Amino acid sequence: MRVLVTGGSGHIGSAVVPDLLSAGHEVVGLARSEAAATTLKALGAEARRGDLDDLDGLRAAASDADGVIHLAFKHDVMYAGDYAAAIEADLAALEAFGEALAGTGKPFVGTSGTVMAAVAGRAGTEDDTLPPGPGLQARAACENLAVGLAARGIRSSVVRLPLTTHSALDRGGFIPTLVATARTTGVSGYLGDGTNRWPAVHTLDAARLYRLALEQAPAGSRLHAVADEGVPFRLIAETIGRRLGVPAAVIPDDEAAAHFGFLAPVVGADNPATSAHTRALLGWRPAHPDLIADLGLDHYFSES
Ligand SMILES: NC(=O)c1ccc[n+]([C@@H]2O[C@H](COP(=O)([O-])OP(=O)(O)OC[C@H]3O[C@@H](n4cnc5c(N)ncnc54)[C@H](OP(=O)(O)O)[C@@H]3O)[C@@H](O)[C@H]2O)c1
Repeated sequence: MRVLVTGGSGHIGSAVVPDLLSAGHEVVGLARSEAAATTLKALGAEARRGDLDDLDGLRAAASDADGVIHLAFKHDVMYAGDYAAAIEADLAALEAFGEALAGTGKPFVGTSGTVMAAVAGRAGTEDDTLPPGPGLQARAACENLAVGLAARGIRSSVVRLPLTTHSALDRGGFIPTLVATARTTGVSGYLGDGTNRWPAVHTLDAARLYRLALEQAPAGSRLHAVADEGVPFRLIAETIGRRLGVPAAVIPDDEAAAHFGFLAPVVGADNPATSAHTRALLGWRPAHPDLIADLGLDHYFSES
C-alpha cells in the first residue's frame, strides 16, 4: 500500500514509518518543515510538504494514497495552553481526510487515548466511550469523528494510546517530563497514596498496532495499544527517583500545579485499560519491554 503518514517525523511516527516500510508498504510522510522532511527521508520515506492547516493539501495527499495513518497533532499549540485550538485543527483535518476518502473503502487510522475509556471501578475496554469533556477528554470529539468516517465508506479505525508511550524514541513525552521535574526539584513526586494507575506501551509495539490497524481493522474499530494495563503511579515515581538518586515523595494537592506544571491533572489520573479485544481482533502481541523494565535502561536518564 502507498500510505500517507502524518506526524511521521515525531516520536511514534518515527517507529510507525520503519515498521510500514519493513512490511513492504510505501510511505509518504507529511512534512511541515525542511527538518521534518529530512527526518522522514532518513527513515526511508518520501516527504510531502504540507501542514495540518492546509486542508486542500491534506485532501490531495490523502487522495493520492491507498491509506492514511494520522498521528500529527498540534502539541506546540497544546503546550502553549490552547488545547481547544489544537482540537479544532484536528477536527478540521479529520473532516478534510473524510472528504477525500469518502466512498473509497480505503483505510484511515486515527489517534486517540485510553482516557476516552476511563470508567470508575474497572479497566476500560475498547467498547467504552466518553462524550467530549474537560481536559484530555476533549479529544473524544476527534475520536468520534474519526470512527464515524466508517459511515462514509471509509475503513476507519482509531488507536487509543495509553497515558505513556515509552522507548528511547520518546524525547518529549510524559516520562521525560517527569524525569526532568524530578531532576530539577530533587523530588520524584506522586499525588495522594500514588495507587492511581497509568497504562503504558512501548513505542515499537504501538507502531506495530498502527500497521495492523491499517491492514486489517474492520471499519469503525476502536483499538487499545495497551501493554501494561495499569502501573501504579507511585511505582513509576519510585523507579524514577531510584534512577536519579532522589527521594520519591507525596506532593500535597495544593502544590501539584507548581510542582508538576501542565502535567498536574494527568499525574493523578487513574486510567487502567485492557487490550483484550484488540489482541483477539488483530493478533497484536506486545513484545518489547514494559514501562518499569524500560525505566531500568539508561535512555531516559542520560543527560546528553
Ligand atoms: N506519546 C504518547 O504517549 C501519546 C499518548 C496519547 C496520545 N498521543 C498522540 O499520538 C500522536 C503522536 O504523538 P507523538 O508522541 O509522536 O508526538 P510528537 O513527537 O510531538 O510528534 C508530533 C508530530 O506531529 C507533527 N505536527 C505537529 N503540528 C503539525 C502541523 N501543524 N502540521 C503538520 N504536522 C504537524 C510534528 O511535526 P514536526 O516534526 O514538524 O514537529 C510531529 O511529526 C499525537 O496525536 C499524540 O497526541 C501520544
